[in-house]
Amino acid sequence: MAEINGSIALVTGAGSGIGAALVAALNREGAKVLAVDRNADALSQFSGDDNVIAHVADVTSEEANVAMCDRAVAELGGLDLVFLNAGVLGRPRELHRDPYVAGDLDLDDFRAMMPVNLDAVVYGTIAAAKAMAAVGDRPGGRAIVATASTAGLVSWPATPFYSAAKHGVVGWVRAMAEALGRQNVTINAICPAGVATPLVGFSADDDFDTNRLLSPTQVADAMVATAAGAETGQAFSVVAGRDDVRQSHPFNEVPGFP
Ligand SMILES: NC(=O)c1ccc[n+]([C@@H]2O[C@H](COP(=O)([O-])OP(=O)(O)OC[C@H]3O[C@@H](n4cnc5c(N)ncnc54)[C@H](O)[C@@H]3O)[C@@H](O)[C@H]2O)c1
Repeated sequence: MAEINGSIALVTGAGSGIGAALVAALNREGAKVLAVDRNADALSQFSGDDNVIAHVADVTSEEANVAMCDRAVAELGGLDLVFLNAGVLGRPRELHRDPYVAGDLDLDDFRAMMPVNLDAVVYGTIAAAKAMAAVGDRPGGRAIVATASTAGLVSWPATPFYSAAKHGVVGWVRAMAEALGRQNVTINAICPAGVATPLVGFSADDDFDTNRLLSPTQVADAMVATAAGAETGQAFSVVAGRDDVRQSHPFNEVPGFP
């Protein structure tokens, strides 16, 4: 559970879509934000905003994750909320509806996607946990939220690589909750269904069917609610056309294990 007002937040993939909406939502709630993206042009939207520092970095390297956390502490005075949100699709969108057999899948798509969608979440979690520990206790609590996908909860045959990475993100937050709980940090996964962002071919001004697709702001609100909430080690789905912002995803037990 983390108090949002007065917090220091870090958002990766902040230049576009869900990440950009999240920076705005956090500012509205009284947080200062280190906005991280590899695309410097996309980060220029925050220039002149006193509550946002733009930080250009490719989050696929361990060093970049350490450096972004260090900068939040050095220039914003701490690190309370970390949103590990940067992501790419991997398998090109135009192939998604084509029938294919396993041998048609291009392993270069897999190799390009895993470092952003899964490795960066692992590096970011560990770098954030160390930076938070170095700052010392925060009475208002701290939170990490990783952006997975509904493709990390159910089968998504359109792109099995992406589905595997997002299942990995969900497994990571579930398994890390106990360790992070010892330093009063929650960690959860947010699992949106389709969101109208450039990732899936939508620009900010495009109209879309709100019963079929979410707006980036709806997902951002669900992420802020997740950071503020008491739950940890959970996955929350966010699906268009529902009244509730997010739904806690139930997992089955394995009888006899652990
Ligand atoms: N749009 C959807 O339908 C949808 C659904 C479920 C989950 N998601 C997830 O939501 C997250 C955000 O996606 P979005 O839809 O806002 O996409 P987007 O393409 O609009 O934004 C993603 C941002 O991440 C940045 N980025 C990509 N690789 C990076 C790297 N290596 N280092 C730093 N920045 C990097 C991009 O420059 C871009 O600004 C992703 O993890 C995505 O997988 C999206």
